[in-house]
Amino acid sequence: MPAFTFLASASCVLHSNGIPIFVDIEPNTCCIDYKKIEERINEKTKAIVCVDIHGMPCDYDEIHEIAAKHSLKVIEDGAQAHGSVYKGRQVGSLGDAAGCSLNGSKNLSALAEGGLFSTDDDEMADLAGRVRMFGEYVTPGEQRKYNSYMMGWNYRTDPLQSAFARSQLRRLPALTEARQKNCQYLDERLSKLPGILVQEVPADRTHSYFFYVFRVQPYKDGIDIPVWAYRDALAEALSAEGTPTQRWQHYTIPEQTLFQFRDAYGQGCPWSCKFARPGITYDGAEYPEAKRLIDEFLCMGHSTGGLGAPNDLELMKLYADSYEKILVDNQAEFLAMAQEKAAAAM
Ligand SMILES: Cc1ncc(COP(=O)(O)O)c(C=O)c1O
Repeated sequence: MPAFTFLASASCVLHSNGIPIFVDIEPNTCCIDYKKIEERINEKTKAIVCVDIHGMPCDYDEIHEIAAKHSLKVIEDGAQAHGSVYKGRQVGSLGDAAGCSLNGSKNLSALAEGGLFSTDDDEMADLAGRVRMFGEYVTPGEQRKYNSYMMGWNYRTDPLQSAFARSQLRRLPALTEARQKNCQYLDERLSKLPGILVQEVPADRTHSYFFYVFRVQPYKDGIDIPVWAYRDALAEALSAEGTPTQRWQHYTIPEQTLFQFRDAYGQGCPWSCKFARPGITYDGAEYPEAKRLIDEFLCMGHSTGGLGAPNDLELMKLYADSYEKILVDNQAEFLAMAQEKAAAAM
């Protein structure tokens, strides 16, 4: 699985008593770099977890090819990407099975908490049904037997929230289109600004922009200021302009304390389990692109932020104007502010 994602993509592997093994990311899509997957496969590997991060689908054709070669399953984490399409196919249908969060912030939301599981494999659907319901077989229209066959949980969704999500599903194409139009406008405007690198969306897929992400790279335009100082000064100045721009992840997943200490269930489990491969450790230095992304990126909104409908190009213009005001119209003042930050840290 990718070293850059939200923790839940990895902790759900631990919830299943599996041990996550990480792979660096591809710098443009920020998704798992398929070219680096094979070197991480070992005799214990069961599946490749693909996270359509920020709303960008992964390189599924290449990943399925690797999975087939090594008899692995492909599991899609589409939590951030409802509405994105890869080679004509919707997110949620791109792996052997997929999970898509319906948490209140998401592109498709159940207002509070909830999630979707999808697969076209009957056996996996059946298994998921049992996992969802205490390990029991529950058949609609039949009396519940209250006999658990396996470890299961209560993953039922609140009916009112499900109804809300269903109603949103009808609106998803229009909501996605609105975000795409807004973010493509931001791309066009921000790509012209000094020290900013916008993402390229490969021609074979669409981006649904749960987050609008760009990189801060003063060095690419010959500006000799540390990335972090340029980034923090920009976020601060944008905030003063009322343009919500933020950092998101601050650590790669393998660098987070859970993975450094390697104790999920007590006594070092599952890493210390006698069936585990011994000696698994996590070193952030093995994921230089994920680390570089964390240093460089800033992002705007998700669905509850300002990038979705009913906001339109009128607001996007104001956002883009504020970037331009800081980075171009008041460049000298901005650079002095960033320099000051850098000097203060020396
Ligand atoms: C990439 C990713 N995977 C998984 C999740 C977990 O979803 P949930 O909060 O619905 O459990 C989230 C977000 O919360 C996410 O962003």
